[in-house]
Amino acid sequence: MQIFHDRRSLEAWVAQQKDSQRSIGFVPTMGALHKGHVSLIQKSISQNDLTICSVFVNPTQFDNPEDLEKYPRDIDKDAQLLESVGCDAVFFPQVEDMYPDSLSSESFDFNGLDQVMEGRFRKGHFDGVATIVSRFFELVQPDKAYFGEKDFQQLRIIQELVKLKNYPIQIQPMPIFREESGLAMSSRNARLKPEYLAEAPQIYKLLNLLKDWKMESTVEECIHRAEEFFLNTSLELEYIMICDEKTLESISSWDEAEDIRAFIAVYAGDIRLIDNLKIV
Ligand code: PAJ
Repeated sequence: MQIFHDRRSLEAWVAQQKDSQRSIGFVPTMGALHKGHVSLIQKSISQNDLTICSVFVNPTQFDNPEDLEKYPRDIDKDAQLLESVGCDAVFFPQVEDMYPDSLSSESFDFNGLDQVMEGRFRKGHFDGVATIVSRFFELVQPDKAYFGEKDFQQLRIIQELVKLKNYPIQIQPMPIFREESGLAMSSRNARLKPEYLAEAPQIYKLLNLLKDWKMESTVEECIHRAEEFFLNTSLELEYIMICDEKTLESISSWDEAEDIRAFIAVYAGDIRLIDNLKIV
C-alpha cells in the first residue's frame, strides 16, 4: 500500500493513474477506522481499479474545540487496517496541505439542506465538510466516492456539492454498519464510558419503534413518544426529526413524502451520537 504524507507525492500518484486510465475509488475519512469505514473501502475495491482512502481530522468542521482535540487518532493502526483489507493507497495530509492560506471554510448554499439538524446544531459544520471534500475531490480526481448513510445529511449535501461544482464523480451511498447491539459504528464510540456504551443501543431500538408506531400514530405523536422514550434512558435527546429524505424538511403527515427517514442526535454523557433509519 502506498502511504502519502504530503500533497505533492499524492499528486504525482494521481497523475500516473490518470495516464494509465485506471479508475479511482475514494473513501474520505477522519480515521480511527472501524468496520463501517472498512465496508466503504471494500465496496470501492470491488468497483474500481484502485482505492484510496484519506485520513484527516478536518478542523473546520468542528464547532467544539474539545471534540476536535479529543477526536481519536491512531494513524499507524489505521494504516495497518487499510493494508490488511487491500486498500491501494492512503493519504494522511498535514493541515497546511489542505489549508495553505488560512484555516477557514468556503461558504456554500445547499438549498436549505445544510440549515437543519447537524447544520443547525453544529454551526458551520457543513461548510467545513464541503470545503475539505471539494479539496480532496480536486486532488484525488476519483471516478467514484463512497459515503455512509450514517451521516445521511452529509451524504445528501455531498450529492448537491457534486451537482453544484459539476464534478465528474459518482457518489455511492453505503448502508449503516452496526454493532450486534444495533449501535451504529462510530469513531466516537471508543470514547463512551461503559454505562453509556450499554445504553447507546437504545437509539436504534427507538428508531425501530418508530416504524411500528407510525402504523397507529401521527408524526407529531411519534415525536412525543420518542421524547418520552429518551426521558427513561440516561441519553439526552438533542433532536429528533422525521423528514423527507430528499429535502430533509420535517414532514407533518406520513403521506407527505415518498421516502421518509427519522434522524436522532443524543448526548451520551459528553459524547454526541447520531443515527437515522428509513421509516417509509
Ligand atoms: P468519518 O466520520 O470518519 O466517516 C467517513 C465515512 O465513513 C463517512 O462517509 C461516514 O458516513 C462513513 N461511516 C462512518 N460510520 C459508518 C457506519 N457505521 N456505517 C457506514 N458508514 C459509516 O464523515 C466524515 O468522516 C467526515 O465528515 C469527512 C467526510 C471525511 C470529511 O471530513
